[in-house]
Amino acid sequence: MVRTAADTAATTDFFALHLCNLHLSVTEMNKSPDAQRMEKIVSLCKRRGFIFQSSEIYGGLSGCWDYGPLGVELKRNVKNYWWRVIVHERDDVVGMDGAILTHPEVLKASGHVEGFSDPMVDCRTCKARLRADQVIEKKSGRQCPNCGGRDLTEARPFNLMFQTQMGAAANESSIVYLRPETAQSIFVQFKNILEVSRKKLPFGIAQIGKAFRNEINPRNFTFRSREFEQMELEYFCRAEEGMKLLDYWLGERLKFYENIGIGRDGLHVKTVSDEERAFYSKGTYDIEFDFPFGRQELEGVAYRTDYDLLQHQKASGKSLDYFDEETKQRFVPHVVEPSAGVDRAVLALICEAYSEDEAPDEKGKMETRIVLRFHPRMAPIKCAVFPLLKNKEHLVAKAKEIVDLLRPHMNVFYDESGAIGRRYRRQDEIGTPFGVTVDFETLGEKDAALRDTVTLRDRDSMKQERILVKDLPGILVSRIT
Ligand code: GAP
Repeated sequence: MVRTAADTAATTDFFALHLCNLHLSVTEMNKSPDAQRMEKIVSLCKRRGFIFQSSEIYGGLSGCWDYGPLGVELKRNVKNYWWRVIVHERDDVVGMDGAILTHPEVLKASGHVEGFSDPMVDCRTCKARLRADQVIEKKSGRQCPNCGGRDLTEARPFNLMFQTQMGAAANESSIVYLRPETAQSIFVQFKNILEVSRKKLPFGIAQIGKAFRNEINPRNFTFRSREFEQMELEYFCRAEEGMKLLDYWLGERLKFYENIGIGRDGLHVKTVSDEERAFYSKGTYDIEFDFPFGRQELEGVAYRTDYDLLQHQKASGKSLDYFDEETKQRFVPHVVEPSAGVDRAVLALICEAYSEDEAPDEKGKMETRIVLRFHPRMAPIKCAVFPLLKNKEHLVAKAKEIVDLLRPHMNVFYDESGAIGRRYRRQDEIGTPFGVTVDFETLGEKDAALRDTVTLRDRDSMKQERILVKDLPGILVSRIT
């Protein structure tokens, strides 16, 4: 693995590591509340097991991240909800799961081998490798953002694809690529899926999976990674439907983000200009989100015309057309593509959810409370169950019974250690929307009428209601789906 100077500066020291990844200097951190907020988010992600630097104990692998026990739950919730609304709740979309290792001819035909590159500049002073758009342009000349040096190379294209060798022989003919997007396997399997699914236009093929790009400067935590996951839909249609479907899918995708808990105020639609758009696209929108480090792309929704299928048809010599039984015409369909990044959606959810408020501690003194206000649908753990005291056998037994009652319906967490207030705080910090406490009323020791009731605490309002244990699954399921 070639490491840049910026990468090398990242040590195992937590702050140095993360500040480096965030590309924020200590001075900036002191100045900007957004940068401080981002630092707290990165710190929380590590401290509570959402996201860790990959290979951290060896100094970190730049641009790669490992999701911990809570991060993996959050990520799954995002992917499952996407799959639910895009595939399961529709008649016109089917799924697939393609290989990551990709035949070079596929990526030659798609244009990636020739053109999937970023212009790159090297700083001869600090040896940093930079994307050309990161170089500081001053009247006096170009400057390195890393060291301020002015001895920079001319920009030259740097292909972002990772290549590897397949089989024992290492030569030109054994080259394969790690896919840079999931889309291509959908185009390549278009005919097979059309035949087996017997779908009529318009219809879509959806896929969730890993993609790899050798980004010159991975940064902003997981935002620009070298290994990441995409959720892509290729929605095939007739040429005359393309522009209308582009707007339709933009609307659907905005709804998706709102339904996972990202407020409409924080979402922005950018119409990609003719100059910025891929030459084959007739229209592209970027859905952007206000991250603490600025407004950045979450998802692209593009009308890619018939470009991809035509390219693969030409290169493979195999027909990728569609036969319209009504008009008896054969043609290559056009496609509209909503393409979302899983990791970016997860990061946006965490940034949106992070908040600090005030709550009383055990002695009634107000203290800062960190809360992740996840939508219950996305929260990694839906409900925590607490016996009031861990040394009271009957309270513990009842709490464990409740865990068993809820477990078939949701991800539940049992916690008996520490004061109840501390236990609430720990769950608030990871975004658990509901807390159930088993107390002496539950056992009917104080008032027989309260036997088999528990308190249900709401994370955001911190209010508690008393409800019957048997009603818990129904109440909670209605709030988390
Ligand atoms: N098939 C179209 C396509 O791949 P893209 O705009 O290059 O389009 C789509 O990528 C989405 O994938 C982006 O909007 C983003 O959410 C995610 N993505 C792209 N590059 C990424 C990276 N280096 N790290 C994390 N997510 C990335």
